[in-house]
Amino acid sequence: MTLDVDRLRADTPGCANVAHLNNAGAALPPRPVTEAQIDHLRLEAAIGGYEARNRAADKVDHAYDAIARLLNCQPDEVAIVENATRAWDMAFYALPFERGDRILTGQAEYASNYLPFLQVAHRTGAVIEAVPDDAFGQIDTAAIAATIADRSKGPVKLISVCHVPTNGGLVNPAAAVGRIAAEHGIPFLLDACQSAGQMPLDVKALGCTMLSVTGRKFLRGPRGTGFLYVRKDWAQRLEPPLIDLHSASWTGPDSYVLQPNTRRFENWECNIAAKIGLGVAVDYALDVGLDTIRKRVSALASGLRARLDDQPGLVVLDKGLAKAGIVTFLKVGEEPEDTKRRLTEAHINVSTTTRESTYLDMAERDIDTMVRASPHYYNTEEELDRLVAAL
Ligand SMILES: Cc1ncc(COP(=O)(O)O)c(C=O)c1O
Repeated sequence: MTLDVDRLRADTPGCANVAHLNNAGAALPPRPVTEAQIDHLRLEAAIGGYEARNRAADKVDHAYDAIARLLNCQPDEVAIVENATRAWDMAFYALPFERGDRILTGQAEYASNYLPFLQVAHRTGAVIEAVPDDAFGQIDTAAIAATIADRSKGPVKLISVCHVPTNGGLVNPAAAVGRIAAEHGIPFLLDACQSAGQMPLDVKALGCTMLSVTGRKFLRGPRGTGFLYVRKDWAQRLEPPLIDLHSASWTGPDSYVLQPNTRRFENWECNIAAKIGLGVAVDYALDVGLDTIRKRVSALASGLRARLDDQPGLVVLDKGLAKAGIVTFLKVGEEPEDTKRRLTEAHINVSTTTRESTYLDMAERDIDTMVRASPHYYNTEEELDRLVAAL
């Protein structure tokens, strides 16, 4: 399938205002996503929030169906929550850890995942092992296999990996990690926050037990949305860290029963308009085609890397073998925040990524801050030229 970029841009009002190269922060939403939300907010104002929810039941249910299609799973293996961090937390904190249990992760792990590792390690005596990178800067799958095999170190209770990290084009070899996890019966939690919406994701091919996603980045959905996939057999045996009258039923003075599926990780009150908008965003991505999107995003990102590489004084810092749509770089002699400010003045949106977000990787490379440009399929070569000219 080929992309009609002009039509897709016409469907994205923000394209008229800015060269938006901050899709790893929050993408410009397409018109139908914004309209679906506004329509529902108007309905709430017109007839009442609960009544509007009832009337929109099909649209809400559809969001689960759309996500299930996106991930190749069942709708009841999906929980819709307020962001990727909450999705990830609900899965991670449901896992029981004891002294000596090992958590395997990578060098590019995101702060909001690593901080919970630290908290649980401090509380329980579980041990975090950040597996080294391979020669390309990806998580070293041979090292994962070797560290699992080393029984003297204690049982591996979780493998938790970032698919595409927040700070660069790296795509970790998630399916290879999933195969190792499955071989050993170890749960595999994949942070797909930056990969969802820019490449196909199939939870079966990836071999993940749990996967977390946000709505607002490459999926182009509403802010304040995210979702969690938990494979049915694991959902049934995990006790969520927080429960309410939606995730569980109060069955007697001293008893409760959890929902029989991944919905046990949700809570009752939520932004219905955003949930509907999320379903529309997922439909939109599926209509454009995830394979087509992946090709376009990766072509734009590698075109940008090549342009930057061509310019003296601009240094591309991405790691990885097959790279995705996040391009990190520095302009020699200019603070990244100043670069970003200058670009903002030229109506070009980029962001910066700091050591606090991916401490292990950035400390290892002795980098504090990088400029991050993240094109999506609706960006153009001309916008990339403008970025490089402004730099
Ligand atoms: C790799 C990665 N994981 C998780 C998150 C957290 O997502 P959210 O802000 O939706 O909680 C981010 C956000 O930038 C991210 O880049």
